[in-house]
Amino acid sequence: MSLISVENVGFAYGTGRAVLEDISFQVPRGANVGLVGESGSGKSTLLRLLLGLETPQKGRILFDGAPLAARDKRFMRGYRTRVQAVFQDPYSSLNPAHRIQRIVTEPLRSLKVAGDHHKMAQAALEAVGLGPDILQRYPRQFSGGQRQRIAIARAIVARPELVLADEAVSALDLSTRVRVVDLFQSISQQMTMIFVSHDMGVVAALCDHMVVLDRGRIVEAGETRAILRNPQHAYTQSLLASIPRMPVPAQI
Ligand SMILES: Nc1ncnc2c1ncn2[C@@H]1O[C@H](COP(=O)(O)OP(=O)(O)OP(=O)(O)O)[C@@H](O)[C@H]1O
Ligand SMILES: [Mg+2]
Repeated sequence: MSLISVENVGFAYGTGRAVLEDISFQVPRGANVGLVGESGSGKSTLLRLLLGLETPQKGRILFDGAPLAARDKRFMRGYRTRVQAVFQDPYSSLNPAHRIQRIVTEPLRSLKVAGDHHKMAQAALEAVGLGPDILQRYPRQFSGGQRQRIAIARAIVARPELVLADEAVSALDLSTRVRVVDLFQSISQQMTMIFVSHDMGVVAALCDHMVVLDRGRIVEAGETRAILRNPQHAYTQSLLASIPRMPVPAQI
């Protein structure tokens, strides 16, 4: 059974025009799916639906076989233990007034996870290449790349089944981006991930499957390798031209 099944989803903000139309795709457990498309194509909106922050007007989304009930508080409380997100801007996503210890353990507290939260935070930081010595420090003491590592540690600390990342490396300079892509590559082996990017190079490095959105519709979907080898849609072909901007990450 697929971990995520999106079935004929349509969505509009308020009474506006449709932002997403007839979106259907499945994400097998353990897969890493890239969601690409140009600005305004609906990528972030689709992630918001997957997070349960918005509800589709048409179609439905199944998580592990059960329909996502965004308006059902009890369902959402359970769902939030299973799905976490990483966003683009590591400067605004970490509370500047809180120490790293408090930031990274926040999901454990709010989800009432049993066990030693300090140890779990240490393990999550270790997974992103940061030492326990940073737990007493504040976000302002870190670079953009380090902050994004901390945001990733917070996303994985409660061991979610699915991680949604929205342009999680776009704000980083090139060398930092390569390192954070590398980090995502190592953690993505152990979990299901949907990775939004307008950069096909990043998706090529990280994702075994991809979905291409154009103006709210899927224009291409399938195995990344097959799509990159033989893009069917003119839009995908034009996106492919952007690949040289992002070198495939090397070991650093
Ligand atoms: N809160 C909102 N209210 C109304 N319209 C919105 C809202 N958020 C996004 N939109 C519109 O929905 C469409 C899709 O936006 P979305 O943010 O999903 O695109 P995107 O693919 O993530 O773009 P980008 O690559 O720039 O992040 C755009 O036309 C946008 O203007
Ligand atoms: Mg977006």
